Amino acid sequence: MTSAVDNTCAVLARVSGDDLQVPLVQGGTTTYANFDYAASAPALAQVTDRVQQLLPFYASVHRGAGYASRISTECYEAARGSVTRFLDAADDQVVVFTRNTTDSLNLLAACVPGETVVLDIEHHANFLPWTEHGRRVVRAADTVEDTIGRLVAELCSRPAALLAVTGASNVTGEVLPLDRLATIAHQCGARILVDAAQLAPHRRISLRESDIDYLAFSGHKLYAPFGAGVLVGRCDWLDAAEPYLAGGGAVREVSATGAEWAPAPQRHEAGSPNVLGAAALAAACDAFCTIDAETLAAHEHRLADRLRDGLAAIDGVRLLRIWTDSPDVVGIVAFTLDGFVPGHVAAYLSAEHGIGVRDGRFCAHPLLTRLGLGGALRASIGLGTTAADVDRLVGAVAALVRTGPAWEYAATNGLWNPTPETRPFRSTAPAGAAPCLIG
Ligand code: ALA
Repeated sequence: MTSAVDNTCAVLARVSGDDLQVPLVQGGTTTYANFDYAASAPALAQVTDRVQQLLPFYASVHRGAGYASRISTECYEAARGSVTRFLDAADDQVVVFTRNTTDSLNLLAACVPGETVVLDIEHHANFLPWTEHGRRVVRAADTVEDTIGRLVAELCSRPAALLAVTGASNVTGEVLPLDRLATIAHQCGARILVDAAQLAPHRRISLRESDIDYLAFSGHKLYAPFGAGVLVGRCDWLDAAEPYLAGGGAVREVSATGAEWAPAPQRHEAGSPNVLGAAALAAACDAFCTIDAETLAAHEHRLADRLRDGLAAIDGVRLLRIWTDSPDVVGIVAFTLDGFVPGHVAAYLSAEHGIGVRDGRFCAHPLLTRLGLGGALRASIGLGTTAADVDRLVGAVAALVRTGPAWEYAATNGLWNPTPETRPFRSTAPAGAAPCLIG
C-alpha cells in the first residue's frame, strides 16, 4: 500500500535529515518523523548543493570588483530571475529579498497608500503589520462563499487600497480561491496581496494568470532555510514609499543633507544582502519548477487523506476546519484530543516516538479564539513525508488514547517535558559529556 506513495516521494525530493536518528526517552533511537514542515522545512538536496557551490565564492554583493564578488553579485541578481519564473511574475513586478514573510509584509504595509482589508483567520504576519496602517478586519463566515460575500461587502462599503489574504491557512491548510478574490479586489478598486508562506511549498502559483498584485513567502518554508524571503509585486507603490531600511545599497546619491533613493528592489534592500539565502531560495524555486504540480498535489493529497482518515478514526480526535466548503486543502492537519493538553501530546510524540509536531496557537490567536481553543496540535507534511511516517503518527496517537503515555510529563511555564528527561541536549548535558547526537 505504501510503495507507490513512497516511490513518488523519493522521486520528488531528497531533503536533509531524512534519515536523522533521534533519541527516545525510554532509551534507544529511532528515525525522526518530521510533521512540522509548515513551521520550517528541511533543505532540499538541490538547495544544499547550490549553497556548497557558492560558498567558496562568497563575497560582497554590489560592492566589489574582485572575481568572487562579481560571482556573488551575479548569483544574487540571477536569484530574482528564478523567483520570477517560479511565480510567473509580470513585467512590472519586482522581486525584493527580505528575511521572511513577516519582513515582506511589514515592508509592504509601509508602502500601501490606503486601508487594508484582512480576515480574522490570518497568521499574525498577515494581521499585525497592517494594524498601524488602516487595517479593516472582516470576520470569516462558516463557508468560503459567505466569507467572500462579507469581503465584497467590506470592499464595497468604502475604498480600500489592498485586500491581504492567506493563500493557505497555516492552521488548517485550507486554500482560498485566489483568482476569484483577485477579480473581486480589482472590481472594488483595491489590489490583492497573497501571504503564500504555506501555499508556495504545496501549489504552483502564476501571478500573471491569477492577476495577483503582491505575494510574499519564506525560504525556510520552501526548503531553503538560509534566512531569505521575498516580496514580489508591482513596483509603483514600492518605488513611491520610503525605503524599508535607510542605508547603503538603497541609494543613488547621498549628500550631507539628504539622499536620492534608488527604485525598488534596491530601495528596500539596504545593507549587505544575504546572497546565500537568495541563492538557496533560487535553488528551491528552480527545483520546484521541475516538479510536476499535479504530481506534487496528488502525492500530498494521498498522504494528507491518509492522515486525516487515520486520526478521525481515533476516539476523541477533533479535526479543525475554518470552512465547510474549502475548495482545496494543503498537507496541514490541525486537531485536538479530548482529555489531553496539546503540549502534553506533542511532548509524548517527540519523547516516546521520535515524531515532531507543533502545538499551541500557531501565531494565529484570533483564529484559535474563534475555534474556541486555547491550543491544538498540528501535523504538517512535506516532500520528505512517507506513508510509513503517517502510519507511525496515527499509531502513536491511537496508543496514547488506548493505554496512556509510558512516561511521566510535566509542564513548566506552559512547556511540556518528560520527567525525568533522559535525552541528551547540548544545553542540559553535564560538562564534558556533550552528546554526540547534536553538534
Ligand atoms: N508560521 C510558522 C507556523 O505556522 C512558524 O508554524
